[in-house]
Amino acid sequence: MNIGIIGYGYWGKNLVRNFVAQKNATVKTVLDFDSKKLEALKAAYPNIHTTSSVEEFFNDDSIHAIVVATPVSSHYELAKKGLLAGKHVLIEKPMTASYVHAKELMEIADSKGLVLMVDHTFLYTSAVEKIKELIDHGELGEIRYIDSTRINLGLFQPDVNVLWDLAAHDISICNYLLNEYPVSLQATGISHTNNDIENIAYLTLKYASNKIAHFNCSWSSPVKVRQMLIGGDKKMIVWNDLEATEKIKVYDTGYDMKSDEDKTKILVDYRVGDIYVPKLNNTEALYSMASDFIDSIQKQKQPKASASIGAEVVKILEGSQKYIKQLNDTNSII
Ligand SMILES: NC(=O)c1ccc[n+]([C@@H]2O[C@H](COP(=O)([O-])OP(=O)(O)OC[C@H]3O[C@@H](n4cnc5c(N)ncnc54)[C@H](O)[C@@H]3O)[C@@H](O)[C@H]2O)c1
Repeated sequence: MNIGIIGYGYWGKNLVRNFVAQKNATVKTVLDFDSKKLEALKAAYPNIHTTSSVEEFFNDDSIHAIVVATPVSSHYELAKKGLLAGKHVLIEKPMTASYVHAKELMEIADSKGLVLMVDHTFLYTSAVEKIKELIDHGELGEIRYIDSTRINLGLFQPDVNVLWDLAAHDISICNYLLNEYPVSLQATGISHTNNDIENIAYLTLKYASNKIAHFNCSWSSPVKVRQMLIGGDKKMIVWNDLEATEKIKVYDTGYDMKSDEDKTKILVDYRVGDIYVPKLNNTEALYSMASDFIDSIQKQKQPKASASIGAEVVKILEGSQKYIKQLNDTNSII
């Protein structure tokens, strides 16, 4: 199977490296408008054909599947071209800049029997796989909340706010872990630049099953934090993605509320037990994601990071952006 990759920027380099490492596929062509980037690619991979011609790329019938690794504003147009040319498509996260566009791509892929998938890389990390396994086996009990902090001195993006950049990961992880889509959201944020694009934002999601998820995202923090708390009624997890070996800690910790006729009294039993550190394998998540794309095409199966997970992320991001703007336009109650 021949793969064509569009965009050899920061993430495109990682994608090329991981697709080149696949046994069942060959990276045939890389398309980029930046000739310097293509020269760098040629130096590292002399066997990969490079082009800056969109026409040449999409008209090449020997390319069976494409990867779109350009900024989000171009995802829809490039992915649509690929699908209409009969190619399977993997799009970088976030899938598109609008939910309507995401739905349209899904419809085209369905009607042509093509695989459409989104690179929500975190779904392929051993940390997420382990947490999912613990949740699905009932180790944590009923999940009550997820609380994530994803902050650092990040690269201010010119076209999307910090939620599109960072919360895209959290939303995909939560919806995958909980196997459920949220029913409502609230969001707030602030821009410290003159383009009105939020560099600090907070997003809260509520699920019909009485679960809550909260994400704190920032490009303006002096320290880098990548921490997620997953609270169940039996056990709780602290996932520190910056830890080299002990990324996940399972706390046998919880609380039980005792019912009392008198609502003014709250009786809580606290339980603090052992802490357990599960062993994780160290396969590169992007390698597993690339394998899933190829496998899904060859075995005609649904990929883990399906287009519907990707589209749902876009729906929530779009909703959060609307919410932030509405809040900014409303008078304060203070
Ligand atoms: N999955 C992840 O964890 C992860 C991490 C980083 C970035 N990303 C995503 O990857 C995508 C690219 O991000 P990046 O940081 O690599 O950006 P980048 O700006 O570093 O690279 C983009 C590349 O695409 C090229 N390009 C732009 N428009 C093009 C077009 N129409 N045709 C051909 N080439 C074009 C540019 O010349 C550049 O080389 C974004 O959607 C981003 O959200 C995902």
